[in-house]
Amino acid sequence: MTEQHDAAVSARDRVPVGDGADRTDDPMAAWSCEKTAATFDGNLPPPTWVNIETTRFCNLACRMCIPALSGTTKEGPHLDLDRFRRYAEQIFPYAEVLQPSVSGEPMLTRGFAEMVETAASYGLKIDMVTNGTILSDRLLETMTPHLGRITFSIDGATKETFEAVRIDANFDQVLRNVRRWVAAAQTILCGSTK
Ligand SMILES: C[S@@+](CC[C@H](N)C(=O)[O-])C[C@H]1O[C@@H](n2cnc3c(N)ncnc32)[C@H](O)[C@@H]1O
Ligand code: SF4
Repeated sequence: MTEQHDAAVSARDRVPVGDGADRTDDPMAAWSCEKTAATFDGNLPPPTWVNIETTRFCNLACRMCIPALSGTTKEGPHLDLDRFRRYAEQIFPYAEVLQPSVSGEPMLTRGFAEMVETAASYGLKIDMVTNGTILSDRLLETMTPHLGRITFSIDGATKETFEAVRIDANFDQVLRNVRRWVAAAQTILCGSTK
């Protein structure tokens, strides 16, 4: 990381945050409010919750996900890692939460582990919506300590319904991956192996 990056993180950490209000029932709201409370001076504050479309690539072809509307494609593109880091330098010193792609499948972003590590180096939490089909050990280990929220898109309570909607997905594989995320969260975030 650059000296500019370290200085920005250091400056941010010196800013007193929070107004003492109890928002423990909604952690996302708490993250969004803390920095706003600290920086609001009558002018529009910088964004604290940032969505960056890291990829439009996806491995599935869900029936309701219309490429013309969502922009999802089988060809990409992926956001270039250097470009992501330039965005990070400008935005992340003020931000609390990063939501990666909601048009493609974020877990399939090229260089995604490096993007998560970059966001984490600024202290951001990750808020991710995923189809749950792909999960490498590296991404599981990299992401879990920095997860604020993970949302699995599951359009059906049975294998038959799920796979009729989520074309090319495997219900059993997705459930296995959800359980791996839960186990990793319990171990890494809660220190429990139960
Ligand atoms: C476009 S997907 C991208 C993230 C990831 N690929 C996934 O499926 O979770 C984000 C969410 O949009 C939902 N979605 C897809 N097509 C939609 C549509 N036509 N209207 C409303 N939501 C839609 C998906 O079910 C998913 O929960
Ligand atoms: S997994 Fe997500 S992005 Fe991919 S086709 Fe389905 S809804 Fe669209």
